Amino acid sequence: MTSPIHKADPAAIAAAAGHLAAGRLVAFPTETVYGLGADATNGEAVARIFAAKGRPSFNPLIVHVLGLPDAERLAEMPPLARRLAATFWPGPLTLVLTRRPDCRASDLVSAGLDTIAVRAPDHPVARALIEAAGLPVAAPSANLSGHVSSTRAQHVEVDLGDEVAMILDAGPTAHGLESTVLDARSDRVVLLRPGAIPADTIEAALGITLIRPSPQRNTAAAAPASHAPTLHAPGQLESHYAPRARVRLDATTIGEGEALLAFGQALPSRGAVVNLSPRGDLIEAAANLFAALRALDASGAATIAVMPIPHDGLGEAINDRLRRAAVGR
Ligand code: TXA
Ligand code: MG
Repeated sequence: MTSPIHKADPAAIAAAAGHLAAGRLVAFPTETVYGLGADATNGEAVARIFAAKGRPSFNPLIVHVLGLPDAERLAEMPPLARRLAATFWPGPLTLVLTRRPDCRASDLVSAGLDTIAVRAPDHPVARALIEAAGLPVAAPSANLSGHVSSTRAQHVEVDLGDEVAMILDAGPTAHGLESTVLDARSDRVVLLRPGAIPADTIEAALGITLIRPSPQRNTAAAAPASHAPTLHAPGQLESHYAPRARVRLDATTIGEGEALLAFGQALPSRGAVVNLSPRGDLIEAAANLFAALRALDASGAATIAVMPIPHDGLGEAINDRLRRAAVGR
């Protein structure tokens, strides 16, 4: 098989943009680490990212844009978020913001949360790719789940060579460390993940104090950000979307007044029905999951009965999210 690695010249970037627009995955360099990109507006393409990485659950993804105007179309930008973007974009700063009601990014990039992480990368190839595709690009680090991030095209090929349509190669990345992630939904800005821009650089530039969510880090205020023991990845928090309705898993018959979340051939039922994937495809099901839960919740049914969903591949993450939804608020 020929290698998926291509020198990131204009022809290769144009080809990669075509792959993104067609719903395929493309790995590309950023100034931090290589990203595994997909069209952020295409739920199935985003679901393929989780399948390719083997992520055990849907941890939300960063959406890559060119700058403030694109970000504003996806998310609410309070004044401080705007100043942060104006100061550090393009660059290795990711802002977690409230999704706009008309946000065109798939629910899956947000893992069902009402927030969206956005960043404008400062790498000519990443920027050219986003521009050529004309799309917001969802991209986690381009490594298998549990592996370290890729800082060279060859690392991506080892982990994900069979999963991507192309790997754009622009040599080793400059920072080699992921972006700093801030929750910038309000003027109390929280450091969610220390990263390539040191927290004190941000504090000094804007004359603000970042809130550290971990009590350890509050007491050790003098410790440099690079000593942070753990990342605060919301994928690990139990804060995902739980519907108002009760959720009943592994349903094999559907009761009167129950809404049905189907997979494959739908069971007989009388109430509202959303089928995650009539053809039983887990990638399609993952893409539809969060919107389906919302739609069935909005139907007003007291209970959402969920048909059994296989546990292999993306099924593990789908079942994980459904289990959390069944526990309720
Ligand atoms: O430098 C980077 O940030 C690289 C390049 C490719 O841009 N990307 C990257 O993505 O490191 P990833 O998926 O490996 O890490 C993204 C982090 C995760 O900790 C995730 O939980 C957090 O950002 N995140 C994404 N969306 C979020 C959201 N809506 N709320 C809170 N945290 C979010
Ligand atoms: Mg990562």
